[in-house]
Amino acid sequence: MNFKSDKSFALKMDSSDPLKSYRDKFHIPKKCNGEDVIYFGGNSLGLQPKSVRSYVEQELLDWEKIALAGHTDAKNPWLTYHEFLTDQTARLVGAIPEEVVNMNSLSVNLHLMFVSFYRPTKTRHKILIEAKSFPSDHYAVQSQIKFHGFDVETSLIEMNPRDGEDTIRTEDIEELIEREGDSIALIWFAGVNYYTGQAFEFDRITKAGHKKNIPVGFDLAHAAGNLNLKLHDWDIDFAVWCNYKYMNGGPGAIGGAFVNERHLKDESLPKFLGWWGHDKKTRFLMDHKYISIPTVESWQLSNPPILQLASLKASLDIFDEVGMKSLREKSELLTNYLEFLIHENKNDFIKIITPSNINERGCQLSLRVKSNGKDLYNRLMQSGVVCDWREPDVIRVAPVPLYNTFEDVFKFSEILFSK
Ligand SMILES: Cc1ncc(COP(=O)(O)O)c(C=O)c1O
Repeated sequence: MNFKSDKSFALKMDSSDPLKSYRDKFHIPKKCNGEDVIYFGGNSLGLQPKSVRSYVEQELLDWEKIALAGHTDAKNPWLTYHEFLTDQTARLVGAIPEEVVNMNSLSVNLHLMFVSFYRPTKTRHKILIEAKSFPSDHYAVQSQIKFHGFDVETSLIEMNPRDGEDTIRTEDIEELIEREGDSIALIWFAGVNYYTGQAFEFDRITKAGHKKNIPVGFDLAHAAGNLNLKLHDWDIDFAVWCNYKYMNGGPGAIGGAFVNERHLKDESLPKFLGWWGHDKKTRFLMDHKYISIPTVESWQLSNPPILQLASLKASLDIFDEVGMKSLREKSELLTNYLEFLIHENKNDFIKIITPSNINERGCQLSLRVKSNGKDLYNRLMQSGVVCDWREPDVIRVAPVPLYNTFEDVFKFSEILFSK
């Protein structure tokens, strides 16, 4: 694509955008003067689909009118509500329906998965993680190591980029796994690093892990609804994600989980159990003999929050209608256009630390600001740009294909480079 730096180019791109009608399906926050903000914060909290209200109101109405009977007689019976999301979730992450479920939240699901997949022994007890992964993942991983009676000092391998580089090379990950693999019990990577925006090569990391008999899991917080994922084909062992970022499920939305089909019937996998993982036909016999659902639903503990499922369902309906392939096509153009405008402005105060290879990134670009970055961030916010600041020196911006436009990107770059 030959991008141009004048506004008419952006407007032309918007008018020929096959997804342009989708912006209108979202509430775009307004500036004081009533104009839309430039919302580049979808990597942190996605916007509200206008349809959410009616999806949630339907459940409020059934609760109001029929209360307890809603479990079986609501328009969308609550007993099976989570199943209404299964096929769409599977298409979203490239899984088969038995492999996905929406439950709990990301960090909780991480722990539930580690119960099953982190099974350290005297000789194989290490967890491989990116040194700069999200803090919650570090806390969780450290606590898992300690829970199993091991020492974080000797059981955690934190991988850094090479000196002078911002992102990790896949060949270095492969080399480390090959070298240290016999002592590694679990590989835990982000799909997309929250800080740099680097998308990792799922299939190569998974292959390298499996060659050494190591289970491989991914945190998809910044990948779900952003990348065109193929979790099943890549043979990933397990993954968890949140639904409040690119997935637009609302603040604190219910999380998602994937477990590869290969593991679903493995009765030897340790698991924490609750009644929502028990065989559906006999669940209400209320006896104490546990029979597992033969899908990832057996990792469920509690009956799920219906209002949260309803708001996620509204968003999944939109994702399913558009499809990740078309979303990704537009996303690549939008982010490439943003990168083009930043480079066109030949400035010496911003460095894009996100990889320039489109296969190694999603929507987000992370801009390292040489000095007074916080001032620049504040100026952007005051000018009606919503993005975020990550200490010590990075502004993260994410043009999201469902609701951002090429004009948003153009205006953002005008504000960024205005004196
Ligand atoms: C990469 C990543 N992992 C984990 C989390 C924690 O998510 P939760 O609060 O849903 O457990 C976040 C939250 O933003 C995140 O960005």
